[in-house]
Amino acid sequence: MRNFLNAIARFVFGLDRPSKAANLRHLHSRGEALESLIIREALPADIPALAALHVKTWMQTYAHVKNPPTYAIREHQWREQFNVTDGSWFCFVVESRKAELVGFAKGKAHTDLPEFAGELSKIYLLRDYQRLGLGRRLVGWVARRFLSQGITTMALFGTPQNPSCAFHEALGGERLLAKNGEFHGGYGWRDLHRLANSCPVEGPEAKTLRSSNVPSSEI
Ligand SMILES: CC(C)(COP(=O)(O)OP(=O)(O)OC[C@H]1O[C@@H](n2cnc3c(N)ncnc32)[C@H](O)[C@@H]1OP(=O)(O)O)[C@@H](O)C(=O)NCCC(=O)NCCS
Repeated sequence: MRNFLNAIARFVFGLDRPSKAANLRHLHSRGEALESLIIREALPADIPALAALHVKTWMQTYAHVKNPPTYAIREHQWREQFNVTDGSWFCFVVESRKAELVGFAKGKAHTDLPEFAGELSKIYLLRDYQRLGLGRRLVGWVARRFLSQGITTMALFGTPQNPSCAFHEALGGERLLAKNGEFHGGYGWRDLHRLANSCPVEGPEAKTLRSSNVPSSEI
C-alpha cells in the first residue's frame, strides 16, 4: 500500500517538474548553450554560492516542507565539510558562462551499507537546468572520481516520493528494498564502470558541433 502511495506521489510531484523541451527552449532564449555550462571541482571560494544554491534547489525540490534549511545552516555545513581534507568526499559544480553555479553533486567515499563503497550523497540542479542531460553528466563525473579512488559501487539515499527516482532508474540504479519489501528511496549501482560508460561527461551539443568540423576552441 505504501509503495502504491509513493508511486502516486511521484506522479503528482512530477507534474510540477519542467519538461526537457521547455527547459531547452528557455536555455536557448537566455542565450545559453549546453556547452557553455562547465562542470568542475568545487573550491572553498564557492562556499557562499554553493550554500545559496543548496538552499534554492532544496526548496524547489521539497516545496511542501515547512521551515527548510536556511542559508546560515547550509553555509555552516559546507564550511565544516570543506574543513575535512582527508579525501573522503568531493563535490562537482555546474557553472554557467556568467560564473553562476546552477547545480552540484557531492560524493562520499563510504556508506553504511557493506555492499556499497561510495555514496552519491547529493545531486541538485536548479529547475531551469533540469532534464538537459546535466544530471547524467554530473553522475559521469562522480562515477569516474569513485573509480579513480578504486571504488566500484555506489548507493544513493533519497525519498520514495521524489520524481527524480525516474532519473536514478534511467541510469540503471537498483531499488534497495527493506526486508518487508518496502522501498524507502535508496538506490544502488554495483558496477560503476558500466555507469560511467552510460554517463558521458560532455554534452550532446559538443559532439554535434565536433562532427560538423567546428574547431573545439569555438565550442
Ligand atoms: C535529479 C536530477 C539531478 C536529474 O538531472 P537532470 O539533468 O534533470 O536529468 P537528465 O536530463 O540527465 O536525465 C537523464 C534521464 O533521466 C530520466 N529523468 C530525469 N528526470 C526525470 C523526471 N523528472 N521524470 C522522468 N524521467 C526523468 C530521463 O529518462 C532522462 O532522459 P531524457 O533526457 O530522455 O529525458 C535533477 O532533475 C534535479 O536536480 N532534480 C531535483 C533535485 C533532486 O531531486 N535530486 C535528487 C535527490 S535524491
